Amino acid sequence: MKVVITGGGGFIGLRLAKSLLARGTLASGNGAQSGQQSIARITLLDTAFPPNMPADARLETVTADVADPAVIDRVVTPDTASIFHLAAVVSGGAEADFDLGMHVNLEAMRLLLERARRAERPPRVVFASSVAAFGGDLPAVLDDSITPNPQTSYGTQKVVSEYLLSDYSRKGFMDGRSLRLPTIVARPGKPNLAASSFASAIIREPLNGVACECPVDPDTGIWMLSPRRVVEAFIHAHDLPAAAWGTKRVVNLPGITASIKQALDALARVAGAEVAKRVVWKPDARIQAIVKTWPVDFNTPRASAMGFNADPDVETIIRNYIADEGIKL
Ligand SMILES: NC(=O)c1ccc[n+]([C@@H]2O[C@H](COP(=O)([O-])OP(=O)(O)OC[C@H]3O[C@@H](n4cnc5c(N)ncnc54)[C@H](O)[C@@H]3O)[C@@H](O)[C@H]2O)c1
Repeated sequence: MKVVITGGGGFIGLRLAKSLLARGTLASGNGAQSGQQSIARITLLDTAFPPNMPADARLETVTADVADPAVIDRVVTPDTASIFHLAAVVSGGAEADFDLGMHVNLEAMRLLLERARRAERPPRVVFASSVAAFGGDLPAVLDDSITPNPQTSYGTQKVVSEYLLSDYSRKGFMDGRSLRLPTIVARPGKPNLAASSFASAIIREPLNGVACECPVDPDTGIWMLSPRRVVEAFIHAHDLPAAAWGTKRVVNLPGITASIKQALDALARVAGAEVAKRVVWKPDARIQAIVKTWPVDFNTPRASAMGFNADPDVETIIRNYIADEGIKL
């Protein structure tokens, strides 16, 4: 089977690709005909790729704009069985450049859906949405009944995409599934334009021996999930039978809530108090205004019943980050 990952050079997309290569199969077909099939080809589409990409004959990279119709026509072929759509301009970026956000976060989705509609068999499409779908007046703990009311362009573009994916699935053009991701912690590498970038930076930079300025208050809560769990969630979302989704093609993934202070306390327990003290407070009104609109705690019975899992605690997230990145304490 042929698989496409848009945003395949990014943080989650590349981890997902590596995990699929190691696993070698994905579910295909429906009902009595469903079963695991070997992955013959994974095409990663992104505007850039890091050096040291895995050397694997099944892997192909395409460096191009996901919102270019000619590129989508080339990458999504009639025999594409599965698409993971992760390419995006992240929250801070889409807020700063409205036109770019609309182009990448919405136009690409529309092109992708139209192209997937012409596949030989309706492909499975798994879409990376976000809890930025929620905003405005929210209860302290959100549950599956809350209607999205995004307060950012990014969140709005994600919600519109969810609805389109759902309608194309209802029409039988494809078999779509949207995951509302918590903030994924911790992200290695450099800070990005996501307004939530600090949630990883306060763990990553001190572990790298570098001071870190935190733009939000210590009691700011973050709804978080680890890179390991989110990759599992994408594969699980793909492999669940269509009947498990029914008419509701979107799910709030499970996560855990930790305040910045709780995350730093956990960092101190894992790596020592001196490491955690490398974080200093430098409030940034722009970031605080965006983050304030996001939910910090969820009840996710539907996701749990469907078999999605959260991390046990923030300490485990930090320990796994240290192990995955080969950090020496
Ligand atoms: N990481 C998180 O905390 C988080 C939380 C909620 C939702 N998400 C969503 O998950 C997905 C993956 O996030 P990530 O953390 O890996 O982000 P990322 O920025 O590392 O990956 C997104 C990728 O999309 C690519 N991209 C941007 N514009 C493109 C274009 N025009 N054409 C082709 N590729 C383009 C980028 O180059 C990047 O590699 C995104 O859709 C994001 O909105 C992430």
